[in-house]
Amino acid sequence: MNKDIVLDVRGVSKTYETNDGNNTIAIKNLDLIVRRNEMVAVMGRSGSGKSTLINVITGIMEADQGQVYIDGENVFDLSGERVASFRRKHVGIVFQNYNLIDSLTIDENIRVPLIIDGKQDGIDEKVLHIAQIVGISSILYKYPYEVSGGQQQRAGICRALVNKSKIIFADEPTGNLDAKSADQVMNCFEDACRENESSLLIVTHDAKVASHCDRVIFLQNGCVALEMEKKSKDIADFYNSILETQKEVLV
Ligand SMILES: Nc1ncnc2c1ncn2[C@@H]1O[C@H](COP(=O)(O)OP(=O)(O)OP(=O)(O)O)[C@@H](O)[C@H]1O
Ligand SMILES: [Mg+2]
Repeated sequence: MNKDIVLDVRGVSKTYETNDGNNTIAIKNLDLIVRRNEMVAVMGRSGSGKSTLINVITGIMEADQGQVYIDGENVFDLSGERVASFRRKHVGIVFQNYNLIDSLTIDENIRVPLIIDGKQDGIDEKVLHIAQIVGISSILYKYPYEVSGGQQQRAGICRALVNKSKIIFADEPTGNLDAKSADQVMNCFEDACRENESSLLIVTHDAKVASHCDRVIFLQNGCVALEMEKKSKDIADFYNSILETQKEVLV
């Protein structure tokens, strides 16, 4: 096992069976790796298989074929409570619609994964620490409906990070946010990933969001069509190359 690789997706396929008999091949024999501390964006036109990929990797949906290793563990081999427990401990998921529990405060929402795992030790400090990193310590005792979309999303990021997950998966987490909030959310991911030594796999349509990442993978018809690596620290440079490539790949 290569210790530098935190996510290893091998030959994963997923076909949806539909009532009219026209099955859709959403993901085709796909290989993908994410390294430790690496931030990777997944782009591609609508229907290219981005959400299916995330759902299959995170176990929200079952794959037809292939293997997924997270930190060396073959996650398709786990079953029942072991899957749920592995996911809680090692994987963070951030959703487009935040998925916070409305009857709990932001602080309580962030605590949920720690409480389920019985990790009460130092819980107050852990929550406060991660809330400070993503800049929401002043709204911890408000309810989700009392704060902005960007703040809710940052709470979602805290919840995904509070367990110090090895890898965070996010499917269009900035899809409902304005450009400024999207930028803040990406800065939070960067700070939090650096602090926790986590990696990120993020689906986005937004070249600006993708330019925060180290690498961009373009999907086309369920396959990896192209990959781009950030060569310099210059975000603007990377943004322009992503835009150019997007024009070519998304036609
Ligand atoms: N539950 C489903 N049943 C049948 N087909 C589906 C289902 N979900 C997705 N598909 C099909 O699988 C393909 C991939 O869909 P997927 O949702 O992964 O795309 P996506 O890249 O996330 O698109 P978007 O950018 O619009 O979110 C599409 O052709 C879609 O119509
Ligand atoms: Mg999608």
